[in-house]
This record gives sequence, structure tokens and C-alpha cells, in this order.
Amino acid sequence: MTADLPDFGPDFRWGVSTSAYQIEGAATEGGRGPSTWDTFCAEPGRVLDGDTGIVACDHYHRYGEDVALMRSLGVDTYRFSFSWSRIQPSGQGAVNAEGIGFYDRLVDELLAAGIQPAPTLFHWDTPQPLEDLGGWVHRDITERFADYAALLAARFADRVPLWMTINEPVVLTMMGYAVGAHAPGLQLGFEALPVAHHQLLAHGHAVQALRAGGARSIGLASNHAPVWPASDAPEDVEAAALYDTLINWLFADPVLLGRYPEGFAEAMPGPVASDLEIISTPLDFFGLNHYALTLVGAPSGAADVGATDGIPLPPGLPFEPRKLTGYPETDFGWPVVPEAFGEILQIFRKRYGDRLPPIYITENGCSYADDQQRITYLDGYLRALKAAIDDGLDVRGYFQWSLLDNFEWAAGYSQRFGLVHVDFETLRRTPKASYTWYRDLIAKSRG
Ligand code: NOJ
Repeated sequence: MTADLPDFGPDFRWGVSTSAYQIEGAATEGGRGPSTWDTFCAEPGRVLDGDTGIVACDHYHRYGEDVALMRSLGVDTYRFSFSWSRIQPSGQGAVNAEGIGFYDRLVDELLAAGIQPAPTLFHWDTPQPLEDLGGWVHRDITERFADYAALLAARFADRVPLWMTINEPVVLTMMGYAVGAHAPGLQLGFEALPVAHHQLLAHGHAVQALRAGGARSIGLASNHAPVWPASDAPEDVEAAALYDTLINWLFADPVLLGRYPEGFAEAMPGPVASDLEIISTPLDFFGLNHYALTLVGAPSGAADVGATDGIPLPPGLPFEPRKLTGYPETDFGWPVVPEAFGEILQIFRKRYGDRLPPIYITENGCSYADDQQRITYLDGYLRALKAAIDDGLDVRGYFQWSLLDNFEWAAGYSQRFGLVHVDFETLRRTPKASYTWYRDLIAKSRG
């Protein structure tokens, strides 16, 4: 099947992505402190089937096997995340030597296998002691995050060539603090806007701290997808435009343009104008995660309403995500629309022009129990990506989500995103057909 696949050329970076809480397990080992996800999972009814990340893929103990799997896959880069609670169990102050030791071993094992480590500093697992102080609603966390970034640079900048500050700030804002479907499970609605501002400010501080500590190639990983209006009716177009602003431009504009979309700066806390200067510290690359577009209309009260992964939104919002019909769907119910991938990249080029640094696709993938469908999905999305590159988009690499089946947040272990199957009883890893397919694709591009 790879014979007619697009060839991305020998310089394109190929990787896989994971995150700490979703794969590491060993939640109470090695001096790790509790995170908001430990707390959330322990609350009945929060996560499907009461699943938790206490063991997850047990990557903490099996990282050697996982690095060997990546080596055979042929990826040149591995995107993972540091667990802040492993590095600083209280989220500030004392550093946990055992936590540093774990990532030292991982980084060295990767380098020995010829794989470049590409860590994200924060992938949603806030240290619980910081959440107890107000978490991302409060400005203090931005300084804690700058300290955390500085200490990571001091320990790892000599061996880590590619860095990402925060992962998908929109999801923590909306799912974690506005809607409450993710940790910490708050339902603040529009009062959650400071969470967006504080993550962006933390990102800006971290870019500066990483750079001052010797880190060279720095970006973030932000998810973006087109928002399609449910119809041409003005009320649907308006609702879709507001949703688009909230999920895409509220996060990308401050970083790339140094300003908020109209009307939002006033809603943010603190000295916003000077914060925006920090937030827009130039990046070496923009990491873009892409999954599925959203169809949005004006509120109708219809029954099939849901956010992109089926989590119901609270009533009374000025927009309403709708179910997109006429396209295949992943097991999560996300529509499979490869053209939307090309579309969002073109929207970025148009919106940001010369301000847009080179792009890495820091996540893309799908949940399927049937692995053949994963191959079909990846084939379609990679063709769309190649077409965008041929059209002039400066995309330098692609990280598939995910190496392993893992803990898919509120959906627990029910959604399988991995190229490698994990039996969550025995923790046995078995590469799927999509693993072989991706391996062959990478080999083909390398020539
Ligand atoms: C994006 C998130 O960064 C990742 O944690 C999650 O597993 C995937 N989307 C799939 O939902």
C-alpha cells in the first residue's frame, strides 16, 4: 500500500507522540506527587468505567521496551511530556531527584537509539498542590511554570533538541475549567477565560526561561481545526464564527500576533498589554495538533448536540456544536475529513503570513478498534498534509498520536489511538498493521 504514498523527502521529521499521565503509570512511585488527574480519576463517575492512570501503560518501568519499539518503527523524534508532579511534587520548590532520574534514563535511552527527545513541559496534569492554590485560574502559577521551565532547561538542554511548552491550552480551558469534563472538573463557563490567559502567559515565560537556559528549538502544541457553519443562515454563520474565535484564535493570535481577538483582551485579568508582549515571544516553530473539524450552528436545543468528543456542553451557550453527517467517523465519533487538515493549514498561512514560523504537526491520529481504518485515516490525512506542503506550507515534521494505546482521559481505556496494541491486563505490547504501515511510509520518505 505504501508504493503510491506521497514521499515527504529525506529531511522531513517523523515522530510519535505520547503524554506522561496517559502512559507512565507509577503514579505514587519514584517520589511523584499527586496531580489533578489522580484526584479527578478517584472521583466516582468522572472517568468511564472508573479507569485511572495509576498503571496506564506502565511506561515508567517499561520505557526500554517502548524505545525499542520506536527504534524499529524508524521514527527520528519522540514527543513525550514531563510530569510536573514527578519533577516537583509540590509544583514548586524542591526538585525530586528520582523524577529527574527517570527522564535522564529515558532521554539517554532515546539518544542511544538514535531518536531525538522532544518533550512538552505540561500536558494537563497540574500538580494537585498548585490546583489547591487556585490552579490556572490564578496568576501565581505562571511564575511557578517559569521556574519549572528553567530547571528543566538546566537539566536537559544539553541533550534535548526540540521543546514544547504547553499542550492544547484550549482543551484544559474548556474541558477542565469551563465544562468540567476533564480535571480539575470545574464548570466555570466563561469565567474560565483567565485559564486561557494564564496558560498563554506561562507559555511565554517558559519560552524565555528555556531559551535563557540554552534550549534552542522551542514551540508549543496547540490544536486547531476548521469550524464549519451548520448552514448559510446568518445566525449559524455568526455562532460558528464565535466558536472559531474561542477555540482557535483566542489561543493562536496572542502567540503569533501579540493580540487577542477583538473583545477578549478586556475579559482577561492582569496587565494584559505587557503580558501579550511576553506571550508573543518569537517561537522557533508552531506545533499544530489536528484531529477533527466542528460543525456549529446557533442554539436550537436539538438532541444530537455535543462537543467534539461527545461531552455535552452546558445549556445557554450562544453556539451549538452539531453532528456532521455524510462522512465516516472514528470510534470516538469524530468525523474523518482529510480536506479539513489542508484547510486549517491554509487558514493559518492566510491569517499569519510572515508571522507564522515553520510548523510541526505535533499530533494527528484516530481511535479505532479496527486497525485497517486507522491506516485509511492516516493515509488520507498524510496525503492532505503533503498537498499543503506542495502548495507552499512550511511543515517540517509529523508526529502521529500515538505510539501506544493509552489512557484517553475521560474515556479511560475505551478509545484506542495506538500503533501498538496494549493489553491492559498483561501490559503486553503488540504492534498493529498500522505500525508496519507507518514504518514503511517513513522508510520510503527516507529513500
Ligand atoms: C489531544 C491530546 O493532546 C491527547 O492527550 C489526546 O489523547 C488526543 N488529543 C486524542 O484525544
